[in-house]
Amino acid sequence: MQDKRITLAWTGASGAPYGLRLLECLLAADYQVYLLISSAARVVLATEHGLKLPAGPEAAQAALAEHLNYSGDKLTVCGKEDWFSPVASGSAAPKKMVVCPCSAGTLASVAHGLSDNLLERAADVVLKERGQLLLVVRETPFSSLHLENMLKLSNLGATIMPAAPGFYHQPKSIDDLVDFMVARILDHLGVEQGLVPRWGYDHRPS
Ligand SMILES: Cc1cc2nc3c(=O)[nH]c(=O)nc-3n(C[C@H](O)[C@H](O)[C@H](O)COP(=O)(O)O)c2cc1C
Repeated sequence: MQDKRITLAWTGASGAPYGLRLLECLLAADYQVYLLISSAARVVLATEHGLKLPAGPEAAQAALAEHLNYSGDKLTVCGKEDWFSPVASGSAAPKKMVVCPCSAGTLASVAHGLSDNLLERAADVVLKERGQLLLVVRETPFSSLHLENMLKLSNLGATIMPAAPGFYHQPKSIDDLVDFMVARILDHLGVEQGLVPRWGYDHRPS
């Protein structure tokens, strides 16, 4: 049976709309989503999207459900020290995790196995269990330290997907650019999507 559970983490890199749209698509695909939100991610979400989330996980969950007009029971927002969450242990954690957007800080913490909060611990668990870890890193330019951390994690089996949308689908809006990235992430996760035309099938330049 397909395991329709996933861990999604939002960190304080620019790109809050990617994280929000990804959450919306995963819930629409009926995935159970364990959502981890760093403090900096809440600041970025308020700055970039105007959405002010409360710090407490239950209140944040309610605010997100209202914002997305979601009435299902598949969204669980976890506190940063909720060590009893399923995502904290290899015996229960979903095999797939996406950090989107992923800051350079969280990239470094994950690359060095710090596990200092639930978000870092969840990533460490997915790595040790040899699950699928996607990091949608956003920074520019990259320093050698960023590049080393990305190479280290790539060599450990993580997938580095820089938040770098293409333009060959001729985007007309910011939403089109966001959907480009989210579509690539969903493809990697094996979640069916029809957000953007596929290269060589639906899309040919006129
Ligand atoms: C509006 C805003 C945008 C930011 N953009 C980035 C970014 O694109 N990449 C990055 O690595 N850090 C960015 N930062 C800095 C991080 O939020 C900061 O390093 C933070 O400590 C990361 O913590 P976290 O990884 O726990 O979320 C941004 C901060 C703010 C307030």
